[in-house]
Amino acid sequence: MIVIPIAFIAVHAALAPIASAITSLFPYEQSQLTNDTLNGLKDDPRTASLVDLLSFGDGATEPIPSGSCKSFPGDEDWPSESTWKALNVSLKSALIYTTPIAAPCYDSQWGKKDVAKCNEIVGNFTKWPIHQSDPTSIYWPVYQGRTCLARIDTTEADSCMRGGYPEYAVNVSSARHVQLIVNFARNANIRLVIKNTGHCYLGKSTGAGSLGLWMHNLKTVEFLPQYESDGYRGKAFKLGAGVTVVEVYRAAEEHGVSMKGGISPSVGYVGGYLQGGGHTPLSGYWGMAADSVLEYQVVTADGDFVTASETSHADLFWALRGGGGGTYGVVTSAIVRAHPKIDVTVSEFTLGNTTNQTVSREGFFTGLRTYWESFPDYTDAGTYSWFLVFNTNGQLSLKMTFFAPGHTMESFRNLTKPWFDAIKIEGIPFAVPEKAGYYESFLPAYMEAWGRNEFPMGTATSLPGNRLLPKSLWTSAENFNATWNMLRTHIEKGRHFGGYHQAPKNPLKADNAVSSAWRNTQSFFITRSILFLETATTNDIGKSNKNLLEEILGPWRKLAPASIGGGSYLNEAAVDEPKWKEDFYGTQYERLLEIKKKYDQSGLFYATTAVGSDEWEVRDGDQGVSTQNGRLCRV
Ligand SMILES: Cc1cc2nc3c(=O)[nH]c(=O)nc-3n(C[C@H](O)[C@H](O)[C@H](O)COP(=O)(O)OP(=O)(O)OC[C@H]3O[C@@H](n4cnc5c(N)ncnc54)[C@H](O)[C@@H]3O)c2cc1C
Ligand SMILES: *[C@@H]1O[C@H](CO)[C@@H](O)[C@H](O)[C@H]1NC(C)=O
Ligand SMILES: *[C@@H]1O[C@H](CO)[C@@H](O)[C@H](O)[C@H]1NC(C)=O
Ligand SMILES: *[C@@H]1O[C@H](CO)[C@@H](O)[C@H](O)[C@H]1NC(C)=O
Ligand SMILES: *[C@@H]1O[C@H](CO)[C@@H](O)[C@H](O)[C@H]1NC(C)=O
Ligand SMILES: *[C@@H]1O[C@H](CO)[C@@H](O)[C@H](O)[C@H]1NC(C)=O
Ligand SMILES: *[C@@H]1O[C@H](CO)[C@@H](O)[C@H](O)[C@H]1NC(C)=O
Ligand SMILES: *[C@@H]1O[C@H](CO)[C@@H](O)[C@H](O)[C@H]1NC(C)=O
Ligand SMILES: *[C@@H]1O[C@H](CO)[C@@H](O)[C@H](O)[C@H]1NC(C)=O
Repeated sequence: MIVIPIAFIAVHAALAPIASAITSLFPYEQSQLTNDTLNGLKDDPRTASLVDLLSFGDGATEPIPSGSCKSFPGDEDWPSESTWKALNVSLKSALIYTTPIAAPCYDSQWGKKDVAKCNEIVGNFTKWPIHQSDPTSIYWPVYQGRTCLARIDTTEADSCMRGGYPEYAVNVSSARHVQLIVNFARNANIRLVIKNTGHCYLGKSTGAGSLGLWMHNLKTVEFLPQYESDGYRGKAFKLGAGVTVVEVYRAAEEHGVSMKGGISPSVGYVGGYLQGGGHTPLSGYWGMAADSVLEYQVVTADGDFVTASETSHADLFWALRGGGGGTYGVVTSAIVRAHPKIDVTVSEFTLGNTTNQTVSREGFFTGLRTYWESFPDYTDAGTYSWFLVFNTNGQLSLKMTFFAPGHTMESFRNLTKPWFDAIKIEGIPFAVPEKAGYYESFLPAYMEAWGRNEFPMGTATSLPGNRLLPKSLWTSAENFNATWNMLRTHIEKGRHFGGYHQAPKNPLKADNAVSSAWRNTQSFFITRSILFLETATTNDIGKSNKNLLEEILGPWRKLAPASIGGGSYLNEAAVDEPKWKEDFYGTQYERLLEIKKKYDQSGLFYATTAVGSDEWEVRDGDQGVSTQNGRLCRV
């Protein structure tokens, strides 16, 4: 036996990054598909006939003829029952023939209506656990095609169908599962869908007639006290693909460090969040969440299990930090740099109501304007907020959560004094009095601010939209006037209005796919369409969508076009945003497309509005908005 000295391994590892990563693989990543395991499957009579469909890709693909479609259930080339059975054997029984989450609300192929079960589902439907723990459920059923809504009042006339939910799903518990499914889907020409939590606002984690990878159960979290690479030496976490934002925050607290994450506790960390950029209450200190990624483990479209980092598949690594989820590969884990512990002051209050109070509408708007004018000061000081403005029956109010990392109560008071003075001078009442607190670390501050917020979801009653407003809109009185006038008009029209003051910095000098618009951002505004009924006609949804894109978002787009550094955050956007390439991906689109083509020639990883997605279409008929309830075909 030859004993290799430790020092030799270290040197060797530095020269061969792929090998070095093997030391840090999670146990579930050590279970991989190799040519050896393929040979094993060939020798097993239950899977022998399947092996051709499980073989690795070699990067080369025939050009895909225009108009050709992915195989769909019922098609001649759709795999037979026995093929699915064999696939299940190869997956060690992890294959699920899916059931729509709300099936118990209907008489359907999945059984008779079960009123008790239906009640429980409907009762839980606006909360996250039920969607995360289901292999195919998503938070916004409108993109699924509304073919099996969670409703108590269904009758025998109502039907439940899979619609846009995947036909089969795999409860992923190893890298090998992912590789098998990637190979099978590519070789059998079947649409592949990746679902983690199902949070996606655009329907990217669902798709009709597809085979779904359900990543949620990859929950491993490991603290790395002394991570080392060429670019960084220090604390980090290695995080499984199914870990959520709040789980990362808890782990950070436990180890006395800070980690960047979003405001919703239930958002998946490593999936759409990190890969789409990830804005965070700590962006004023350490940038976008994706800026702190050190490595990913990825299954590529050819089925290979690789490390993506600065020294291994650097182009893929670049794309996976901001270029969008579900596009370049399936990530099984990420190593993310940890940041120092930080203290936080949080202030929450609601201002208003106005017409029946001592304050005039003008006074309220003056107070609001003072706040907005202060954004450069607030973001220079590293702070962040999430607020909502309501205009209900002419009553104006502002619900504020102001998050000030690195600030004591005193420095927070100093920073916000001009605004609080204006509130007092104008006599704007507090509808909900201020509750302010100082916390020595991030987690308790976060729990106070957002950690217990349900962020209601699971409804099919509106469509989202957003805009990233660049710093230049604040640099002259004239520009700010235009900004102010646009926002005030939006509010005066009684439209939904939410927003953040945040200006992600880039202290790590990250060069990645986080959209160029994010690097200019002073503020991020979110809105939604006019509400519609879950059971609205497609015509009504179409009208609401058109109104959103033209009447509501039109002025936002005009104020902050990509040409002046504006854009739209790809993770929380209107799915039919017309200039999505430049608006979602900024100046990075062309490079991302090259990387996409290099790693995924066959278009295995389709997701709506993802890089390269315009080469495909979902034939969903007219549903009023782009849904995933249809066959996926090459345009
Ligand atoms: C209530 C709410 C609050 C939010 N708050 C924030 C916030 O504060 N900051 C912020 O930046 N964003 C926020 N978001 C947006 C959020 O980041 C996105 O919805 C994100 O896509 C969620 O990722 P997921 O993996 O949980 O969701 P999913 O819907 O499961 O997946 C989203 C996309 O990622 C892909 N994907 C998932 N897992 C993988 C994987 N392992 N490998 C490759 N692709 C994968 C999917 O295919 C899909 O395209 C919020 C969303 C909601 C609904
Ligand atoms: C499997 O074998 C094929 C053909 O021999 C080879 O090209 C490929 O690189 C191998 N793949 C892996 C992951 O070992
Ligand atoms: C896969 O096998 C398991 C265990 O036998 C079974 O429960 C499951 O239904 C099978 N999946 C499919 C799609 O047949
Ligand atoms: C629904 O919520 C109740 C409590 O609110 C819980 O006991 C139950 O397990 C939930 N059911 C599902 C399916 O999530
Ligand atoms: C999925 O797999 C996990 C183990 O990884 C198991 O605990 C869980 O029950 C499975 N869920 C379903 C729905 O099959
Ligand atoms: C303000 O008034 C509207 C309309 O009367 C009401 O719906 C809303 O709840 C009030 N908001 C607050 C914060 O009091
Ligand atoms: C104003 O407030 C008072 C007391 O809260 C209430 O009785 C009255 O109806 C309100 N008027 C309007 C116009 O809302
Ligand atoms: C706050 O402002 C006061 C008065 O200007 C000043 O004395 C004090 O040092 C400031 N504190 C901080 C933390 O900035
Ligand atoms: C800003 O708008 C106000 C009225 O809305 C106007 O009085 C003022 O002159 C404008 N200022 C600039 C610099 O355009």
